[in-house]
Amino acid sequence: MKTLLTHIFKIAMQSAFGAAQADYEPMIQSATRSEYGDYQANFAMRLAKILQKKPMEIAQTVIDHLSHRETFRLLDPSGPGFINITLSDEFLAQQLQKLIGDDRLGVEKAHKPETIVVEYSSPNVAKEMHVGHLRTTIIGDAFARIFDFLGHKVIRQSHIGDWGTQFGMIIEYLLETNQANIKHSISELNLLYKKSKQRFDEDPAFADKARARVVALQGGDKATLAIWQNLVNESENYFATVYEKLNVLLKHDDIRGESFYNDTLANITNDLEKRHIAEISDGALVIFLEGFVDPDNKPVPMIIRKKDGGYLYATTDLAAAKYRIETLKGNRIIYITDARQKQHFAMLFAAVDKAGWMTATAKLEHVPYGAVLGEDNRPFKTRSGETISLISLLDEAEERAATLATAKNPELSKDQIKTIAKAIGVGALKYADLRADKVKDYVFSWDKMLSFDGNTAPYLQNAYVRTRSIFRTGKIDLNSLKTEKIIIAEPVEHLLAVKLLEFSDIVPSIAHDLGLHRLCEYLYDVAATFHKFYEHCPILSAPDQASRNSRLLLCDITARTLKLGLSLLGIEVVEQM
Ligand code: ARG
Repeated sequence: MKTLLTHIFKIAMQSAFGAAQADYEPMIQSATRSEYGDYQANFAMRLAKILQKKPMEIAQTVIDHLSHRETFRLLDPSGPGFINITLSDEFLAQQLQKLIGDDRLGVEKAHKPETIVVEYSSPNVAKEMHVGHLRTTIIGDAFARIFDFLGHKVIRQSHIGDWGTQFGMIIEYLLETNQANIKHSISELNLLYKKSKQRFDEDPAFADKARARVVALQGGDKATLAIWQNLVNESENYFATVYEKLNVLLKHDDIRGESFYNDTLANITNDLEKRHIAEISDGALVIFLEGFVDPDNKPVPMIIRKKDGGYLYATTDLAAAKYRIETLKGNRIIYITDARQKQHFAMLFAAVDKAGWMTATAKLEHVPYGAVLGEDNRPFKTRSGETISLISLLDEAEERAATLATAKNPELSKDQIKTIAKAIGVGALKYADLRADKVKDYVFSWDKMLSFDGNTAPYLQNAYVRTRSIFRTGKIDLNSLKTEKIIIAEPVEHLLAVKLLEFSDIVPSIAHDLGLHRLCEYLYDVAATFHKFYEHCPILSAPDQASRNSRLLLCDITARTLKLGLSLLGIEVVEQM
């Protein structure tokens, strides 16, 4: 819709003022309040400056030159220089008509498909995923779904922590306690990590052995590698069960952990040293980057090789960025991590640039997100103060949703409750996260996220169920409606039509600015507007057959908008509850 209005206004601006050098950008926006109209054009003040005329005069001149008058019901220039635009009911009906057989609901595929690398989730081997991994996993997955829907080539990457000195410790502990050949559950692995750390801290002899084990691991010692591989496999199986529960797309092939880059680190660091991108400082190899200084204005180096020759988190990230640019040929390379890593990524990107690896077609983007807080506004923890495991969170979400669903509809079978509980529970968890502006911290509240009122997943899922139940109650065959006409007559039908037609603007704009909370906000508006429509406009008992058919079609487009919109966020709907 915005594209269309922009086009119509541009033509009017050109015919009003000639193809001048001025940049004719109509600046079309959704109306801030529906009393003012459906959209507004905000160009008049800017153009007035350029053309040295009064804004209102500019606005009126453009209105006089607008073609496609049947598109508008009202064009109202208002001070200090906006045009309030109300679309005509006929035009809205005509546009909606196009959505009837359209699975994409008007969303066009990208004209220039890009290769987009989305790095997300990235948990650590031999450690349980915790609430901190929730946000990266959910946000990244939604990005991947949206890019994919828009026709981009999406490469998912989970940069798991599967390498490093802690593995020396764990492997040594496994050998010491004769557990190297047995299978471990993730909670056992988690415990293992703690116990081996304890041994490491307590016993210098053990610590020495653990260090030697790291050397063996990095040197490719077969027996050591085999134990390590076991740990990786066990952890990956566990990640897969989490992703399955969470309805997340990440698959085995999307995992490219830190170990993958290990063999390239020596070459990369040597090359940077040779080209004087990096230099030796206190025995370590470091990169100094412009603009990165500590509070005393002393340059903060990015260390890429320790004094003892060991590599670091940053070294692996350099190698991964290079790989994503050169081998994966990413046009956009997106990292989703918590905001505490902001500085790390800022330095990483500067270093990649300094190394000369950037290309004209590649862009690195860090998407930081805030913390999950408990209702006491402190980091979200269990009552005893421990970090909350992701699995326990997911189980609790499903349990709570099952209780709600059973109370709402006691007639449902056990299997139905199970399906509904998964959709609602996981949906609520995801939506509460996604609707928060991701940069900010957000407060975790079961009661709020699972409420059927307010801006929540259950509210949206319920709106969807309502649309479906109309079709069930009326025994309506959707196919028989496909040739019927949409008629927009009532004010609330007008509002719903405008909302539904906005979908095709919203989705691409989110791929652009990554503001997932705007998609949530939009879907909430759709559901709320639908409820108003439902209250004001009888559907199955509409006054005549034509408006009954039209309203059923509006229901169907609403249903598909909610379903598709939620699916782009990784949230499922159910047909009844
Ligand atoms: N494995 C890390 C963690 O669990 C996150 C990795 C983030 N990605 C990266 N490219 N550094 O905290």
